[in-house]
Amino acid sequence: MISFPENFLWGAAASAPQTEGAALIDGKSPSTWDKWFELEPELFYDGVGPEHTSNTYFNYQEDVRLMKEMGLNSYRTSISWTRLLPDGKTVNPQAVTFYRHYFSEMVANGVEPIMNLFHFDMPWWLMEQGGWENRASVDHFAYYAKVAFEQFGDLVKQWSTFNEPLVHIECGYLGDAHYPKVYDFKRALQVGYHTLLAHAKAVAEYRKLNHQDGKIGIILNLSPVYSKSQSEADEKARVSADLIYCRSFLDTVVKGEFPQELIGLLAENHLLPVTESDDKGIFTANTVDFVGVNYYQPLRVQAPGNPRVPAQSPGDFARYYDWPEKVINPYRGWEIFPEGLYAIAMRLKNDYGNIPWYVSENGMGVSQEERFMNEEGVIQDEYRIDFVRNHLVELERAIAAGSSCYGYHMWTFLDCWSWLNAYKNRYGYYRVGLEKNYQRSPKLSSFWMAGVIQQNGFEN
Ligand code: BG6
Repeated sequence: MISFPENFLWGAAASAPQTEGAALIDGKSPSTWDKWFELEPELFYDGVGPEHTSNTYFNYQEDVRLMKEMGLNSYRTSISWTRLLPDGKTVNPQAVTFYRHYFSEMVANGVEPIMNLFHFDMPWWLMEQGGWENRASVDHFAYYAKVAFEQFGDLVKQWSTFNEPLVHIECGYLGDAHYPKVYDFKRALQVGYHTLLAHAKAVAEYRKLNHQDGKIGIILNLSPVYSKSQSEADEKARVSADLIYCRSFLDTVVKGEFPQELIGLLAENHLLPVTESDDKGIFTANTVDFVGVNYYQPLRVQAPGNPRVPAQSPGDFARYYDWPEKVINPYRGWEIFPEGLYAIAMRLKNDYGNIPWYVSENGMGVSQEERFMNEEGVIQDEYRIDFVRNHLVELERAIAAGSSCYGYHMWTFLDCWSWLNAYKNRYGYYRVGLEKNYQRSPKLSSFWMAGVIQQNGFEN
């Protein structure tokens, strides 16, 4: 029997911009996604933008009821910055009403709301001023965080500041998947620095409200890094990739300081971001209570072929390595490697003081799932059940080895809109029938998971 600790969090994750819909009504101002879709709709998969998503703004009561029926005891989503503070300063009363009803509904149904503040949804008004490149964004974010804590802190006892900060940095400043779609390593590092500072200042705001009796953390996409070989050059690439993609975030939020090796690497390459002398103390004083780990796949690297000096991209430190033996999810192209979850757990235990953490996202996106629908209309997503089962086996092994993991959240509860793929890949325990007025219908995995939750484990 694979079993989990008492009071283990069983739940699912999502984000405001991917589920709420109602993107431009009830006082909400446009996020960069809304505006970008208006400007260049052809860049969005199938021309589908963020306006409707899963319609949760109108459907939240049913959604919470379904969560309860399935036995979920927790759910993470995010607050929309541009709904709560459309101009960055003025509280939108309609947003307060919506979120208070939504979170109260969860609490009343035994589903703990875990709220995140930023899931790639930069306000357009702030993007026009340079977004995270502009240091002013740090204080704007801290103010937004303060307002959210004050408005909802009685209902929400677990907060996170950012979801996967690596993603908006990498996709927006080292690629073209997010706005402003530029490729500039130095600008990317400045964006990363301001993001981490904004995180620390939001934590500081939370600590000031110590009567709120909750905890605050961050959600990181962590991948164990493996090198192609044990050669010195491949090993060096592994260490650099780990510094850039993992330790940059983890050390800063858990230990309160940037790794010296990272500072050295950036200095040698003239890539250090602009900082201010007081910043150091802000990081040191505002470490997190917990870490949420989004785990999808490991990172495999090899030595770069002809690295530029000074480096102009992360690829000058480490190049992606396509491991021939990998098992992949062909729809998303991501490697499936459950053992990686064990590796992360052990790392948090051994290198980060065994900080409390939970799996804040894990899951499998599959396209054209209607192929697997039976006569009763239930998607037979055995592949998703296998995926989750294999990851849970690794998680239990880690907990037995002393890891302080306290929960497992699936991405996601309901199929949702995605930044890169609109509705192509479906991730949910529940199908959302776009052609049927967003009708929710359970997949086989929801029944399987309901059983796991009920027994707090499963026979393997
Ligand atoms: C996670 C993000 O990394 O992956 C989600 O937090 C995202 O926002 C999910 O939707 C799945 O990725 P994708 O690109 O397949 O939607």
